[in-house]
Amino acid sequence: MNILLTGGAGYIGSHTAIELLAKGYKVTIIDNFSNSNQSTINKIRAISKKELALYSGDVRDEKLLQKIFTEQSIAAVMHFAGLKSVGESVAQPLTYYQNNIDSTLVLCKLMKLNNVSKLIFSSSATVYGVPKQLPIEETHPVGTGITNPYGRTKYMIEEILQDLVTSDDTWAITALRYFNAIGAHDSGLIGEDPKGKPNNLMPYIAQVAVGKLDMLNVFGGDYNTPDGTGIRDYIHVVDLAKGHITALEHLDGKKGFSAYNLGTGSGISVLELISAFEKNSGKKIAYTVVARRPGDVASCYADVTLASKKLGWRAEKTLDEACSDVWRWQTNLANEQHSGSS
Ligand code: NAD
Ligand code: UFG
Repeated sequence: MNILLTGGAGYIGSHTAIELLAKGYKVTIIDNFSNSNQSTINKIRAISKKELALYSGDVRDEKLLQKIFTEQSIAAVMHFAGLKSVGESVAQPLTYYQNNIDSTLVLCKLMKLNNVSKLIFSSSATVYGVPKQLPIEETHPVGTGITNPYGRTKYMIEEILQDLVTSDDTWAITALRYFNAIGAHDSGLIGEDPKGKPNNLMPYIAQVAVGKLDMLNVFGGDYNTPDGTGIRDYIHVVDLAKGHITALEHLDGKKGFSAYNLGTGSGISVLELISAFEKNSGKKIAYTVVARRPGDVASCYADVTLASKKLGWRAEKTLDEACSDVWRWQTNLANEQHSGSS
């Protein structure tokens, strides 16, 4: 069974490609490499010892998408492609609406033309806005209180996908609402490599540990949480990747739209994450507590009962595994970059 991964060279897509190949699926990737590196494709091949088909280009390119559907026998699509920087989306809303929404519209149009009806969409916990209760269940209101254009694109796309299944009952669509993805493949060959200064906590910590950055700013020490710092639900990217396969297999014979949280169900504070990383890397992380970051909420973590009951999926990897995998990946990357520049 051939699965099309849009944005498959990115952080979550590349880990999912490996898990799909390991389970005997064929993989086709389309990526414009706007936030990823072409070398990741060969790393996926090296880790899995399997071939995959790559189409370099934009999901909004209808001709390219039609070429893929003509040349490959695509059974289902996992739609990872999208821009994901919260701060950048505030500065460049049109770019975000254009990229994230147009790519979904073109993808769905071409899927329909080619009679492909199974879609897994990369949604986000940001659709819940400011949590009204914790842990967050899938029945929590969505759309209200979203603080940035990025989050609104995810919410709008979920609405579009629901309109689609209402209009045509052949569609089978699942939105996976990820919480905070961390970790890396245990080979140390692939992981998160943000362009420029990281916006997210884990890659920032990792770059301080490896000496690329001097000091972490902890955004807010006065939240109403046990240690005063923000609490999130950090899920290992390989657990997330496996969640996609479970969701895909669950779509067999199903119709309509569903949404599932993919998280661990546990909240971890910024200071707890720093100390777990220190333990697993043996490095001291220099940090200073500064003002809160605008738009941040105090706590956000998932109720994971629905995915467990309906999909039979739950996160298995520990925070320690995630930290040691990130550290292995970050040190390999630093060595690779050092030898490349010397
Ligand atoms: P990523 O940036 O590493 O991967 C996205 C990939 O899509 C990149 O390789 C990029 O080059 C590609 N891409 C973007 N726009 C494209 C387009 N128009 N055409 C072709 N390729 C395009 O991000 P990620 O962390 O792997 O996230 C994957 C998806 O999951 C995104 O949609 C993101 O919004 C969503 N998500 C991520 C997180 C997280 O914690 N990383 C949390 C919630 C949701
Ligand atoms: N934080 C710091 N210093 C930093 C970066 C982050 O203290 O340099 C803190 C934040 O204030 C927050 C926590 O670390 O308390 C996590 O922040 P991230 O930026 O890593 O993640 P967010 O929870 O803000 O958002 C992330 C992704 C979104 C995704 C969401 C899903 O950026 O795309 O998780 O829950 F939708």
